[in-house]
Amino acid sequence: MPFPCRVTAPVDLTARNSFAVHATARRLLEVGDIATLPAVIAALPDDGTALLVIGGGSNLLFAGDAPGDVLAITDDRRAIIADDGDGAVVRAAAGNAWHGFVLWTLAQGLGGLENLALIPGTVGAAPIQNIGAYGVEVGERIVAVEAFDRNTREAVRLDAAACRFGYRDSLFKRQPDRYLVTAVEFALARSAAPVLDYAGLRDALQARGIARPTSRDVADAVIDIRRSKLPDPARIGNAGSFFKNPVVPAATAAALRAEHPAMPVFATADGRQKLSAAWLIDQCGWKGHRDGDAGVAPGHALVLVNHGGASGAELLALARRIAGSVQARFGVALEPEPRIVGATW
Ligand code: EPU
Repeated sequence: MPFPCRVTAPVDLTARNSFAVHATARRLLEVGDIATLPAVIAALPDDGTALLVIGGGSNLLFAGDAPGDVLAITDDRRAIIADDGDGAVVRAAAGNAWHGFVLWTLAQGLGGLENLALIPGTVGAAPIQNIGAYGVEVGERIVAVEAFDRNTREAVRLDAAACRFGYRDSLFKRQPDRYLVTAVEFALARSAAPVLDYAGLRDALQARGIARPTSRDVADAVIDIRRSKLPDPARIGNAGSFFKNPVVPAATAAALRAEHPAMPVFATADGRQKLSAAWLIDQCGWKGHRDGDAGVAPGHALVLVNHGGASGAELLALARRIAGSVQARFGVALEPEPRIVGATW
């Protein structure tokens, strides 16, 4: 029986990961209708090979080939499913490209996702690592995540509390082989106060002479800031921030601050302190460094880049050297943000 989805076999994944490193898989399964997902999963060969689910491939480092099949949801339907005039609930299938979806919500007059404009990737990937930028994390806007539970082989709908969102973390990230995100429901508002906690965002709006920014103004400022700081993956391979900002006990942060008064430190809700991985890496002299085609972006120390022909293994080796130097100098362990396939950190 043919698969109820588009199959490419074998497949070159170079164009399917934003680092643009070479990797292959036995087959790529593209699911255009999330309703067919249970049938697709049921028809997978029972040969013990792990299924790799990818979104936009923008938070992924292939340190080797995919072990078996790769599955991508390409269903990109979206709709307003409830509307009380002040706000609305929007449901988007996992295959929506994130930034296009954000622009669509803004065009509907719905605010809430503007601080997350221009993040690469898909709607389905957004809750997995709880994407966040410029003072907003997507989990704060999510009502529910719809997923296929591979353990029970049932479709589930998990409300925001059940998703256990944390900083670049969620239930889905902790159990990567269990849940396959199929759709996400967002609560958005027609006239919410903009979130301007990130100083650079406030400054950018002020510089444009905008005193009372609309959601669209905020999105435009975010787009400009991202373009000025972060390399465009369409031009130079990268996966955004390669490391998470380390969260440490307050006493650790205070001790480091005493030794390095210029070190940025940010408070978190649970009383611990978030350090700036970019600053730590920058202090170790890595910005703009290059090992062959594997490098650190000249404009941002947290972004690893592929100058053309780097392999995933070369990028991973560079990441390990960077983390090793930060550990040696500051005693702080860095953890990668992207999912690494074919190696463990
Ligand atoms: N800094 C340096 N050197 C650099 C870059 C930054 O010392 O080369 C220092 C500066 O002091 C700056 C601080 O690091 O004030 C923080 O930098 P930035 O504002 O660029 O934010 P970030 O902590 O490096 C995080 C997210 C980004 C998100 C921005 C803005 C993580 C891992 N990264 O970066 O998310 O866009 O905040 O909110 O949390 C991503 O996850 O891929 C990503 C790009």
